[in-house]
Amino acid sequence: MIFAAVLAGGIGSRMGLTHPKQFELVNNKPILIYSVEQFLKVDKIEKVIVSSPKSYIATTKKIIKKFIDDTDRIAIIEGGITRNDTILNSIEYVKSNYFYEDPILITHDAARIFVTTKLIKESINQLKNHDAASPIIRAVDVIFKSEEKGKLSDIPLRETLFHSQTPQSFKINKFLEIYSTLSEDEIKKLDEAMMLFFLRDGDITLFEGDPNNFKITRNIDLNIAKTYINDMNNET
Ligand code: CTP
Repeated sequence: MIFAAVLAGGIGSRMGLTHPKQFELVNNKPILIYSVEQFLKVDKIEKVIVSSPKSYIATTKKIIKKFIDDTDRIAIIEGGITRNDTILNSIEYVKSNYFYEDPILITHDAARIFVTTKLIKESINQLKNHDAASPIIRAVDVIFKSEEKGKLSDIPLRETLFHSQTPQSFKINKFLEIYSTLSEDEIKKLDEAMMLFFLRDGDITLFEGDPNNFKITRNIDLNIAKTYINDMNNET
């Protein structure tokens, strides 16, 4: 059985708004709604679990009610302090409400509003032969490693560097099995699910992501997203 976790538990500090970025309107629709709509289009997803910062749960509920018809397939839960805690809360929701043998979770950053159903299905399909899967796109810039402010420590070969994206999928039981072996230090470093699988040499596969599936992180990204949607609307 397949569950989706739309991660919207963050506060969007880099955006500098008065509210978390997932509530910002992009062409009259809150950021959060874009990906929820895409996940609902994929029939084999049993439930779309939407997380929210604790103090915004009521706002999240209100927005979902306003913009989405099929609210039966949505669960709204409290996010965690870190992104990984939010993933853990989503897993906890599945584990305490369903008793399927080998459930799958597909996690997605709410801030990536241009996710397509093609990418969602591709991520799920990868789990036929693997325990975890992530889309990636090639790095376009040369990336400098700098471990001390102002000092260059390494220049990894650009051909070997990729940006990870979401939607990332994984088998929940495998995730929990590995999680139970992690030290406190390792848990503190976790930011995303693939890191956990990587720490224990897990069976991860990488597949081609989509440059349009960028994450709205800074103000400039918001302007790009708005322009992009306007262009799409003008084309149709
Ligand atoms: N996220 C989450 N729970 C957290 C932190 C982040 O669900 N505790 C979500 C965000 O809401 C976002 C996604 O993870 O949709 C990607 O994270 P990022 O872009 O870093 O979002 P924020 O943490 O909100 O932004 P910032 O780092 O600027 O504060």
